[in-house]
This record gives sequence, C-alpha cells and structure tokens, in this order.
Amino acid sequence: MAKILVTGGTGYIGSHTVVELLEDGMEVVIVDNLSNSEREVVNGITSITGKEPHFEEVDLRERNATYGVFEKHPDISAIIHFAAFKAVGESVEKPLEYYENNLLSLIHLLEAMKKFSVNHLVFSSSCTVYGEPDELPVTEKAPIKNAGSPYGNTKQICEDILQDTMRSIKGKGVISLRYFNPIGAHPSAKIGELPLGVPNNLVPFITQTAAGIRECLSVFGDDYNTPDGSAIRDYINVVDLAKAHVTAIRRLLNQKQKSNFEVFNLGTGRGLSVLEIIHAFEKSTGQKLNYKVVERREGDIEKVYADTAYANSELGWRAEKGIEETLQSAWKWEMNIRSKNNRT
Ligand code: UD1
Repeated sequence: MAKILVTGGTGYIGSHTVVELLEDGMEVVIVDNLSNSEREVVNGITSITGKEPHFEEVDLRERNATYGVFEKHPDISAIIHFAAFKAVGESVEKPLEYYENNLLSLIHLLEAMKKFSVNHLVFSSSCTVYGEPDELPVTEKAPIKNAGSPYGNTKQICEDILQDTMRSIKGKGVISLRYFNPIGAHPSAKIGELPLGVPNNLVPFITQTAAGIRECLSVFGDDYNTPDGSAIRDYINVVDLAKAHVTAIRRLLNQKQKSNFEVFNLGTGRGLSVLEIIHAFEKSTGQKLNYKVVERREGDIEKVYADTAYANSELGWRAEKGIEETLQSAWKWEMNIRSKNNRT
C-alpha cells in the first residue's frame, strides 16, 4: 500500500484530499503545524473513511523536524504539498512571512526528497499565476503574468524552484496543479472550510451571511465587462478537486508522466459571475441572501476560467459536481459548524 505524505492535511483542500486517498486504499501521513486548522479535523476524516491517518504536528520551516518525519516514516512514496499561507490581503501586509513560510517549506521538502529518496511530489498551485489572462478559457500554455500579490508570487516562485530542481535531479517527478476557485464541502458535512475571522472568499461569506453571522454580503463591483457586470470565476467542488490529486499521485507512482515537471489546470471550464453564484445559492438552499453592490475590490481580475481539455485527456480527470449541489454542501457544512459551536 502506497504511503503518501500530505502537508497541510488538516487544511481545507488537504483534508478532503486525505479522505479521497484513504478511500482509494492509500495510507496517509498528515503533517500540519495547525497554524490555520484544528487537530479535530483528523477525527472528521476518520469518521468519514473509517481509517485513521497518521498525524505529525510539525512546522516545515524547521528542517530537522521535517527530516524527522521521513525518519519516522521511511516508506513514504510520494508527497502532496498543500501547507502554505494563502490569504492574498494578508500577504501584502506580511510579505516576508509569506516568502519565509511558503518558500522554506518547499525547499525543506525538496531537500528531504533528495536525502530520503522520495521521488514524487504534487504541488498545490493556483490560477493566480495567470493574472488577468489575455485569452479565455485559460490553457496551461497561457503566459505567467506578474503576480498581483506576494501570495501569488510565492506560487510562481515555488513553481520555478520545482522546475529548476527537476532539471537537476533525474528520476524524480513533480505535478503542479493550478486550482481555480475551490468551494463547497464534503457531502457528509464532517469536514469543510474553516475560515478564521471575517472570510475573504465569496462562498464562506455567503454562507455566513445566510446564517446571520454577517449582516450583508458585499458584491465587489457590477461594472465589469461581463453579461451582468459582476466578476467571473471558475468555481470547482473541493471533492472533485481532491480526486484530481489521487489521479495525479497514481500518474506519478505508475510513471505515466510525459516530463518530470507537469502542470494541469483544475477547474470546471465554466465561468460563473458573483451574481449567478448568489442566485444559485438562493435557489439550491431556499435561503434569501442579503447583499448589496459596492466598489470593486482592489487587485481583483474581471474574468478567469479554465480550459480543462488537457486535464481531461491527459490526466483522465474531470469535475463532475454541479454548482447547486456544491453550494448546498457549503450550506450544510455551515449549519453543521454553527450547531456544533452553538452560535446561532
Ligand atoms: C483569490 C485569489 C486566489 C486564491 C484564492 C483563495 C486573486 C486574483 N485570486 O481568488 O489566488 O487562491 O483567493 O484565497 O487574488 N467577492 C465578492 N464579495 C465578497 C468576496 C468575494 O463579491 O465578499 C467576489 C470577488 O470580487 C471575486 C469573487 O467573488 O470576483 C471570488 O472571490 P474570492 O472567493 O475571494 O476568490 P478570488 O479572488 O477569485
């Protein structure tokens, strides 16, 4: 049975991926420093799958502690690297923390891969590397644009580090997965996204508004060059996204790569506007949403959605879940955490 190291495995996308790996019959070692997640997530994963992942509370900025994980688990055959800071706004305020955390963690993992002869890594990247794209839908060949934030820049630099490292190390393979906008939660509502404080992202803000925790959702701009004037994104169900990681791991383990650094877009191929998301949420959950249109948010792009042809044909993966089912899962999760915390 393949043993997979999942960094950031108690985080949002990480935890959903751990579930899919366990359900696919793989063994999982989670490494997380719990800086933006809770130990309890491991219980949610175990409750869904009936299998318990290993859990190591380790900060990947510490090289020796990172090596310690590989000493304890000498049979790790591949890594999925999620652990990173990811808030765009915060990265503008604390750039050095973002560069230190996101770059150093990757460097330590790559050093460990060399030292402990681990050959495969899947990297958690973002469509943010394309900036405001010239052509839609966005293919993997679209040019990398100037990063809009230190966060976005760390993703670009990490991809550069991976590409350079793969040139110098023979026999190892990396797949970088560029996510569009992951949303929703596991249908069991036992795991999901746990934003700390006021959410920056659209869907957690919507569910918290519907739950009465936020008074009103601000729609950032209705004067974009889009059919209804609000900005367009490619929203992908987090479970669909998680499954793509299992596919990528299998591709690496079965040595199906065409080169030792590959990139895939993970999206649905369909762009939806902010207003369309609001209406789909209202329709699928029966909740009325209080919202108002305000100024554009600084740094936002107008529209971006994926060309998924390459991931479909080459990876053999496609997003399956529809937007209404996905928004319902986000709402079910929101209600579940509220009832647990007894906050409503
Ligand atoms: C951003 C980042 C992306 C990052 C992701 C996760 C950019 C260009 N992209 O995506 O790299 O991986 O966050 O943190 O910075 N919106 C509202 N009201 C709200 C919140 C959002 O109208 O209260 C709108 C936004 O203006 C945008 C859309 O909803 O048009 C999606 O926003 P969000 O969920 O924050 O994701 P992105 O900005 O697309």
